[in-house]
Amino acid sequence: MSQWIGTSNQTYAPYAIEELRRLLPGASFTQLAAGEVFMMECPMEREEVLALIREREPIFLRHIQPVDRSMRVSGSAADLEGLSEMIRNARLMFMDKRTAVHIRRNVKSAFHYSASDTKALLDAVLEEWDAEPVVQQPEVVISIYAADDQLYVGFAPPADMLSDWPGGAVRFQREEGQVSRAKFKLLEAERTFGLQYSDYRSAVDIGAAPGGWTSLLLERGLRVTAIDPADMHPSLLSHPLLTHLKQNASDAKLPLQGFDLLVCDMSWSPMLMSRLVLDLKESLKEGADAIVTVKLMHRKPLQTIREVMERLSTAFHVRKAKQLFHNREEITLHLRKK
Ligand SMILES: C[S@@+](CC[C@H](N)C(=O)[O-])C[C@H]1O[C@@H](n2cnc3c(N)ncnc32)[C@H](O)[C@@H]1O
Repeated sequence: MSQWIGTSNQTYAPYAIEELRRLLPGASFTQLAAGEVFMMECPMEREEVLALIREREPIFLRHIQPVDRSMRVSGSAADLEGLSEMIRNARLMFMDKRTAVHIRRNVKSAFHYSASDTKALLDAVLEEWDAEPVVQQPEVVISIYAADDQLYVGFAPPADMLSDWPGGAVRFQREEGQVSRAKFKLLEAERTFGLQYSDYRSAVDIGAAPGGWTSLLLERGLRVTAIDPADMHPSLLSHPLLTHLKQNASDAKLPLQGFDLLVCDMSWSPMLMSRLVLDLKESLKEGADAIVTVKLMHRKPLQTIREVMERLSTAFHVRKAKQLFHNREEITLHLRKK
């Protein structure tokens, strides 16, 4: 038996649960924060659950933490003392290890302390026995979820939680003069899919305006052909590595095998997007990678995604499908040309 807390993007928890039900027969679910955070009880042990999740990672599951300990909260100072004591008693889990503390609160939780106050207190507890409190690249994460009247605490390496950010909420610093927020999606895709955009030479960006994705690829030193009938941001136009084809992508004439990366963020119907990407396949080198967003326009996202993947798999291997933290009504696919 094992207990877990799962998190998805807002309103997508029912789809994460549907995927988990298929993956883990016998699992049961209770909602902790509407449409977003849920408790899962599973007849299988932890390692077996993790192995299945690794093998077929659910698209809509952004973060998962085991529940190793739990305690009732009363809304008084005794909550913090109880939590410190619990961490002291669990010290064998992270003695000598680089340890990060992640805290999330349900808005209705009786646990009143802010994440920063709680973290400061627990960091002091960790230092009592030489565990090193860190933010970046921890070996172990103490992940705490404050539900209405319970604290749920789990200990695990970040890879077992699917993310090294609290609840999988990836935060990037907004930069001065940033062309669009969409840039964060492509940055998150790079990390989630284990890519390095600087490894590619030449990209085609379909639906590129105003140019957040294009600007990131240019920063990484790629030559970029941006296709969009709309205008690109003026700050990009004189870039020596950028070609803007100001037209509909279906009219674009592209060189054969000219690109080793295709990115597409068109906010279009998923079936039309698939057709367009398939029509451009001859312009991609063998083994080229593609990052495409899939709009979830109607009520059956899992079915839509299945149909899109089936279509695209005539020319591409689907490496991973994931709803990223920065995806709104969409998911992101990582494809590799066959
Ligand atoms: C969500 S925006 C893309 C944002 C972009 N990724 C960024 O980082 O700034 C979608 C774009 O797709 C473009 N688009 C829609 N249909 C298109 C088509 N058939 N061919 C080319 N561009 C298209 C729209 O003009 C719009 O600029």
